[in-house]
Amino acid sequence: MRSNANIAGPMTDPVPGPRTESTGADVSRETPPPMDDTPIGRAAQLAVEALGRAGEGLPRPEQTRVIVVANQKGGVGKTTTTVNLAASLALHGGRVLVIDLDPQGNASTALGIDHHAEVPSIYDVLVESRPLAEVVQPVPDVEGLFCAPATIDLAGAEIELVSLVARESRLQRAIQAYEQPLDYILIDCPPSLGLLTVNALVAGQEVLIPIQCEYYALEGLGQLLRNVDLVRGHLNPTLHVSTILLTMYDGRTRLASQVAEEVRTHFGDEVLRTSIPRSVRISEAPSYGQTVLTYDPGSSGALSYLEAAREIALKGIGISYDASQAHIGAQNDPSMVEGIQ
Ligand SMILES: Nc1ncnc2c1ncn2[C@@H]1O[C@H](COP(=O)(O)OP(=O)(O)O)[C@@H](O)[C@H]1O
Ligand SMILES: [Mg+2]
Repeated sequence: MRSNANIAGPMTDPVPGPRTESTGADVSRETPPPMDDTPIGRAAQLAVEALGRAGEGLPRPEQTRVIVVANQKGGVGKTTTTVNLAASLALHGGRVLVIDLDPQGNASTALGIDHHAEVPSIYDVLVESRPLAEVVQPVPDVEGLFCAPATIDLAGAEIELVSLVARESRLQRAIQAYEQPLDYILIDCPPSLGLLTVNALVAGQEVLIPIQCEYYALEGLGQLLRNVDLVRGHLNPTLHVSTILLTMYDGRTRLASQVAEEVRTHFGDEVLRTSIPRSVRISEAPSYGQTVLTYDPGSSGALSYLEAAREIALKGIGISYDASQAHIGAQNDPSMVEGIQ
């Protein structure tokens, strides 16, 4: 779908290099022989690019940004987005905490964090008032990334919270009492709008909504947006929808580009220029307890999440993102989607 290029930004260069920076570091780029124009050749080159870029570092926010990843639909990419964005932000040099607020514990699994029933978890924080610091674990393989895991106990928390004091603001209090310096906290919500999600909305300043480029993409979003308004009006005046991320984007289908266009018309600037392609690598990574950033750093999925993270980091400090300067172009080039999955 070449005609989609303008929808997600003019990022169609199949093997993009940094077009703005031209430092001595580029010298080495000139020495290797030109890569074959094959999917594997391009994937290898992209892997090198990705690894080089990960250490690049991004400006850090002045205060911890608490980002709630929510959409009451299941299977739209909330967990995938939470863990891969978090890993990307950490690889860009940030200190990042993922709070797993879904009883299924998929984010904990994907980050390789032990979360069997006896592990101290976010349930203990919410229901037993245990300090957050006592449940946070470092994520193996990614420096600067931490996780507060969810165990199966959390399934009962929706009900147990009802009778507790300050039931909507228990997560907020726990985060406020957490003393470790952090640049970002990403909260992975369950697919519902119950008390767990409300706790996340009260604790955060920003809502990130992943939208799957599929039929009925926008259905049910009104309800989430009304909840955000309600929480803003009554409990958390700073809350706002800061980011919409298009996920599982398949540039080969007309449907994906139609959904993308509809979402951009509806939400405008909140929609990231970077969209996340449908990628087998992204879906394989969790079964190895890894994010796609470590599982296959050169894949289109890894590069897209790195780029989305860059966009979010720059937006957060008021620098407008120029898609023509994007470091990648893989996600909107159908041959790449096919080639390096
Ligand atoms: N970009 C993607 N490409 C391919 N599969 C994806 C992608 N994003 C998510 N998935 C897969 O889709 C399923 C649902 O994603 P998940 O992040 O668990 O959604 P949610 O947390 O909203 O329920 C998972 O199996 C995941 O591996
Ligand atoms: Mg999930």
